[in-house]
Amino acid sequence: MKQKQLEFIQGLPKVELHLHIEGSLEPDLLFELAKRNQVSIPFSSPQEVQAAYQFNNLQSFLDIYYQGANVLIHEQDFYDLTWAYLLRCRQDNVVHTEIFFDPQTHTARGIGFDTVINGIDKALKQGKEELGISSQIIMCFLRHLDQDSAFETLKQALPFKDKIIAVGLDSSEEGHPPQKFTEVFQTAIEHGFLTVAHAGEEGPAQNIDNAISLLGVSRVDHGVRCVDDPKLVAELIAKRTPLTVCPLSNIKLNVFETMAEHNIVELLRQGLCVTINSDDPAYFGGYMTANFIAVAKALPITNKELMALSFNAIEASFICDTEKQKLREKVEQYGNKDAKL
Ligand code: HPA
Ligand code: ZN
Repeated sequence: MKQKQLEFIQGLPKVELHLHIEGSLEPDLLFELAKRNQVSIPFSSPQEVQAAYQFNNLQSFLDIYYQGANVLIHEQDFYDLTWAYLLRCRQDNVVHTEIFFDPQTHTARGIGFDTVINGIDKALKQGKEELGISSQIIMCFLRHLDQDSAFETLKQALPFKDKIIAVGLDSSEEGHPPQKFTEVFQTAIEHGFLTVAHAGEEGPAQNIDNAISLLGVSRVDHGVRCVDDPKLVAELIAKRTPLTVCPLSNIKLNVFETMAEHNIVELLRQGLCVTINSDDPAYFGGYMTANFIAVAKALPITNKELMALSFNAIEASFICDTEKQKLREKVEQYGNKDAKL
């Protein structure tokens, strides 16, 4: 990759649509919060925490990720976590972000739903005011738990409905298909939430189909296994159903062996509305810019296609048309400036 393309990527205005806020917990902050909250962790330094971030599939990652979340207790902790992520957004020219949180990971430990959402929301409001970064919050149900627990979580979310744009579905895909959550998603839709779901990350293309038809999702998180079903690919293209692809995550969790084998550029060229996202950047080795760079280093991609990824993310985002237009203009202006250089 040319140096010039690296610089182009750095400055490109970006929109992130697939980010688990708990997955942005860096070893330094994890260590600091463990001390501050007197939570015992089996590590004596942030370096040891970093060394423990080794996994070979989704489940081995999730085991470490849920353990890390134990240090998050007070509203201030959720605020600090979110603020640290927003500062990284500023560095990477992320202008809009839609973040997931996993309420059940916290409520199961006796942390109040309000503690979690208020801490995240406070930082996001400050991010808008001080950094000019707009945002939305998506609440995910943990699919390894049962639907009753998801219903209970939905009930807890209702008083905070104005702060949550959509519900999602994450955690272990294997053995927990979308159809396990049909009713709770239908109820969420009746309450006015949009819906998204992780599907076709490790699981089969059928999960993508079912997420669309049974959970009414507006976009699919990951979705890279769609290629196993050409009819599904044709439908995704025709309907412009967005896929929130997470390149570095896919390599760390062995969804693809190497970035050179990743299908994101192929999908983009076929006309799918694919986007680049960081998923759990503290665990997978990089935020938005690092994900773009990793793709551009391993795969042939033009600056115009890099811009198309930003345009796709704007199209796929949960903001109004006026806001979308403003973001489009930002990307266009950036592209025009580059063309003149
Ligand atoms: N997949 C499923 N669940 C998750 C992920 C993921 O990539 N990250 C955090 N929870
Ligand atoms: Zn994810």
